[in-house]
Amino acid sequence: MEEVTVVIVGAGPAGLASSACLNVESISNIVLEREDCCASLWKKRSYDRLRLHLAKEFCSLPYKEHSPETSTFMSKDTFISYIDSYVSEFNITPRYSRSVESAFYDEKMKKWRIKAKNGVSGEMERYSSDYLIVASGENNEAFVPEVQGLTSFKGELIHSSEYKNGKRYKGKDVLVVGCGNSGMEISHDLSEYDARTSIVIRSPFHVLTKNMVHMGMLMTKYLPVHIVDTLISLAASITYGDLSKYGIHRPEQGPFALKLLSGKTPVIDGGSVSRIKSKRIKVVPEIVNINGTNIEFVDGTEQKFDAIIFATGYRSGAKEWLKDYQHVLDDEGMPKKKYPDHWKGENGLYCAGLSGRGLDGISADATHIAADIRELLKNKA
Ligand SMILES: Cc1cc2nc3c(=O)[nH]c(=O)nc-3n(C[C@H](O)[C@H](O)[C@H](O)COP(=O)(O)OP(=O)(O)OC[C@H]3O[C@@H](n4cnc5c(N)ncnc54)[C@H](O)[C@@H]3O)c2cc1C
Ligand SMILES: *[C@@H]1O[C@H](CO)[C@@H](O)[C@H](O)[C@H]1NC(C)=O
Repeated sequence: MEEVTVVIVGAGPAGLASSACLNVESISNIVLEREDCCASLWKKRSYDRLRLHLAKEFCSLPYKEHSPETSTFMSKDTFISYIDSYVSEFNITPRYSRSVESAFYDEKMKKWRIKAKNGVSGEMERYSSDYLIVASGENNEAFVPEVQGLTSFKGELIHSSEYKNGKRYKGKDVLVVGCGNSGMEISHDLSEYDARTSIVIRSPFHVLTKNMVHMGMLMTKYLPVHIVDTLISLAASITYGDLSKYGIHRPEQGPFALKLLSGKTPVIDGGSVSRIKSKRIKVVPEIVNINGTNIEFVDGTEQKFDAIIFATGYRSGAKEWLKDYQHVLDDEGMPKKKYPDHWKGENGLYCAGLSGRGLDGISADATHIAADIRELLKNKA
């Protein structure tokens, strides 16, 4: 058994940022990562055309800004090289191919006991620590909702995390389920590759350009949210007009208020809306039944599809291995406490990157956690 002050589960941006902040404070830590590389979500589970949706000043990790040459909305590859240099600059040495299978709190010894399977040797490794940071991501488990008749579907069925590009869907009828950022962007990509693309839209959402989001984020630093919402909504209606005739309805709450209240992010339009307007992407309502390749919708229409892509989001999945999750997580595997107090649990358990606030939220979590551990260690000494 190996003893260390802090164990961090996951070498995505949240785990790396946490490790960097601890290294700066000279607090010993071990990062355990299931995959054979860091930032595996970005390197292995994201589509080709992905660019960061948010401006670069909201996408950096602690102690390292993006370089002035980096474009405001950087590509996936630029972000990946930023991460790789972050790892070497802060001497982060994740232990790869370590899948954490269980972690529990030993009340008697006041230690966390962690078991990780070494994917190369096949051995079970044991770690013991005073503090444990859950950084396994809110995008860890692909989520597919229950749909009547789904098991009867004769075509191809994938989750957005498996989607790379639309090349092999040319000329095919493809249904995208889910109209968040991934669903909208994948629809756009499919339609550019000449797939006959439909998207299921069930509930209201805001559509904004990335510049509107950027402007709104800057304005919320100085203005009350309802004013920002009024201004940004005005800009959106000038740009897009009334989208309700295309099946896109705006929520009652403004985009930034809604984000604060429910964590629901606006859809950042990269061209999908103009394709919806020109009918190159068809909007369909909720699915009621699937039979073979035939899909029936709630408005009574039916259509045959060759493929369905579920862009229906993710679950954290941390409960699978974290036996004593209730010290920081709820039954959904998400933080028990409300933002901004979500990151700290009991008995030395923390979570980083589970606040639904992207890289900016991750950076704040890592900074808070490292400062907290530093203070606790100081008091102990
Ligand atoms: C398509 C897409 C686009 C996005 N675009 C943006 C954007 O533009 N801006 C933004 O701010 N955010 C964006 N996000 C949000 C994104 O989730 C974060 O930016 C970031 O990648 C999350 O980092 P993380 O470290 O919390 O989780 P992850 O990146 O998911 O990393 C978690 C790591 O933990 C590992 N792990 C999980 N379970 C275990 C286990 N049991 N044992 C060992 N290791 C484990 C995983 O293998 C993974 O490497 C996007 C997300 C997606 C899916
Ligand atoms: C599926 O379709 C077939 C042929 O169109 C029909 O015979 C069958 O009853 C349908 N099954 C269901 C469960 O709707």
